[in-house]
Amino acid sequence: MKSLIKKAIFPIAGLGTRFLPATKSIPKEMLTILDRPVLEWAVLEASKSGIEEMIFVTSSNKNTILEHFDKSELLELSLKKKKKLDKLKLIKEQNKLGYFSIVIQDEPKGLGHAVWCARKLIKKHENFAVILPDDVILSKTPAIKQLINVFNETNYSSVVGLKKVPKKDVSKYGVINIKKKYPNFYSISDLVEKPKIDEAPSNLSVVGRYVLSEKIFKTLSLKKKGFGNEIQLTDALNSLIEQPGLFGTEFEGRRFDCGSKLGFIEANLNFGLNDPEIKSNLRLLMKKL
Ligand code: G1P
Repeated sequence: MKSLIKKAIFPIAGLGTRFLPATKSIPKEMLTILDRPVLEWAVLEASKSGIEEMIFVTSSNKNTILEHFDKSELLELSLKKKKKLDKLKLIKEQNKLGYFSIVIQDEPKGLGHAVWCARKLIKKHENFAVILPDDVILSKTPAIKQLINVFNETNYSSVVGLKKVPKKDVSKYGVINIKKKYPNFYSISDLVEKPKIDEAPSNLSVVGRYVLSEKIFKTLSLKKKGFGNEIQLTDALNSLIEQPGLFGTEFEGRRFDCGSKLGFIEANLNFGLNDPEIKSNLRLLMKKL
């Protein structure tokens, strides 16, 4: 079956306060893992998964993000002059990652609200991806592609990406209640946003990757507030369980929480160890620590 997922929403309006002072003038999505901004890894993942349109839901002070994905005539010219053709190729590839749209989220009212802000760019009956760039994933098959495969396998049901987390950490995540376990996915009977440890229905947590039906906008339009007095995407996911169905998959790959300093450094080390140019020297360097 063919993938019908052509659009991805990237909620990136957050202030990045955990990375201050670095994020005073640089959006946190522009901090780099190896040689690419965090956001570019997420866009690459989408692009490699057949997604053509990247929708950034952002706040108005993040111009550098647009510049990064735009053509840079001056830079191209100077690289051409200096005969740095490999770098020129690298820069040109940037504009070929997809079509970019911007939607402004004027107030931080929660993840559900951010996704709702992009509703006008999604057609009736269209299914689409949501990618949270803070969750950086190093995998053989792009994580969102793995979700799209389950979406196809389950006859176009909605799908969330899952990872098992230690019980003590469940309160940081959306957590699923398992209805039934299949070989490579679960059907879901219920989801809870940031449950108390002793109330969590499982330790299978949603980690920043979703394939959703546009039906979710109907629920999000109700603007019902949930955990933290915010409009939660997790709460609205519950409305997809009956129709078109909701599944979760523990995708292959390592996930790094780049919303935290430790996760960000861990991601940099792992992406470094995966990079043919620096991996041996990095390994040596790490042994010396
Ligand atoms: C968001 C979602 C949560 C999910 C998490 C994944 O929470 O609301 O359901 O488990 O991302 O990283 P946040 O980390 O923005 O508080």
